[in-house]
Amino acid sequence: MKIGIIGTGYVGLVTGVCLAEMGHEVTCIDQNTAKIQLLQSGQAPIYEPGLEPLLTRHSALGTLQFRSSIAEMAEDAAAIFIAVGTPSGADGTADLSFVLQAADQIADFITRYTVVVAKSTVPVGTTRVIMERIQAKLESRGLSRKLADVVSNPEFLREGKAIEDFLQPDRIVVGIESQQAARVMEQIYEPLTKKGHSLIVMDLRSSEMTKYAANAMLASRISFINEIAELCEATGADVEKVRLGIGSDHRIGPFFLSAGVGYGGSCFPKDVAALMATAREYQASSSILQATVEVNRRQRKRFLAKVAEYFHGSLEGKAITVWGVAFKPDTDDIREAPALDLIKSLLNEGAAVSIHDPIALPHAKQVFGDRPGIRYFNDPYEAVQGAHALMLVTDWDVYRKADMDLVKKSMNKPVVFDGRNVFDPVQMKNAGFHHYSIGRKASWEHE
Ligand code: UDX
Repeated sequence: MKIGIIGTGYVGLVTGVCLAEMGHEVTCIDQNTAKIQLLQSGQAPIYEPGLEPLLTRHSALGTLQFRSSIAEMAEDAAAIFIAVGTPSGADGTADLSFVLQAADQIADFITRYTVVVAKSTVPVGTTRVIMERIQAKLESRGLSRKLADVVSNPEFLREGKAIEDFLQPDRIVVGIESQQAARVMEQIYEPLTKKGHSLIVMDLRSSEMTKYAANAMLASRISFINEIAELCEATGADVEKVRLGIGSDHRIGPFFLSAGVGYGGSCFPKDVAALMATAREYQASSSILQATVEVNRRQRKRFLAKVAEYFHGSLEGKAITVWGVAFKPDTDDIREAPALDLIKSLLNEGAAVSIHDPIALPHAKQVFGDRPGIRYFNDPYEAVQGAHALMLVTDWDVYRKADMDLVKKSMNKPVVFDGRNVFDPVQMKNAGFHHYSIGRKASWEHE
């Protein structure tokens, strides 16, 4: 099938590449001509494992094309996906201007029956608004309103695993109002449903809500285990054992129960805030969502407070190394990353901060530049030279496998604040480290 995609950001690009891999002919549109030129030369503007080989292959085959205007797209596309950003406004509400702009372009472009697919995460009710807007425009062009159907098809892509998540999904959710559109969506996803992946069809509002509910549920699980972690620290229990204990109950499951410095990224904070804004709009309760955000904030503060407490309340003049800036491993994305808050606070409190990240360092430089007190390192061992403490903030594999003997020799004092429970406290104690982690006894509390 011929498919168009508006927006070559993270979601649009992954969607385009994967739909081409599923056998469709895809044209991706973005008004950013520099980005389109980069993509036309076979380069991906984002870091995502597995993306570039598919991009190269389908560009060479001609099954994936990049254009800077919708006018350059084939007129007989069966579906056009809207995959543009919905950034958070000041009060947490999603800014829909890019989505509505894309809807207008589509309404001006189409001349035959087209399914418009809202892939962007939009508040409940928005797909209906897009539909009205497109159909009204068609009418004003003297065309039938029935020329377009708008469906909701949220994405559940994890950064770093997006290709896998798209091509081997737990489920595909589609919100639909018309049978004709349902058939088109079934055809688009047939290569996946044929392999046993389920397509769940529902009404528009439920589909939109599913996306927010999924992310809010996952975020709340993280805050839940982080709150339990604090209680474990207070009572002398070990959150890693508790996680095993509760996670083996099949009703609970083991995933998304890792205690740490909390969640970040472009989705959880934004989507929880947007759902809270929806709750305000409808005067509905959002107490669990509020608590989720509050615990997540508290978790970062608690981690920093532990470091300050270790140094008797003052970080002035202390050399602190931060390992990991990305909001999670396998991505260079630092949006809402816990490390940003922590680095800012360390600098404000007068510490000298050395930072390392395997790939997110350039982004960190864009944020902190050459602020006094900060230094950037491409080598994790050089970063710990002379440090009074090491704070591990992102659980990159390279840190898990680090030569801790070398780290110990390089540091001024062998002190590790492990914000992702990467190291075992007893092993660290035996190796001569002072080690603090989340929800477990610190090494100095072990007999
Ligand atoms: C998330 C959703 O997983 C995805 O389905 C949705 O479409 C977009 O948002 P992503 O933001 O890429 O994906 O990251 P994810 O892997 O879900 O992790 C989010 C954050 O939670 C990271 O900061 C991670 O470190 C943290 N996390 C995750 C924990 O602190 N503990 C956990 O157990 C799991």
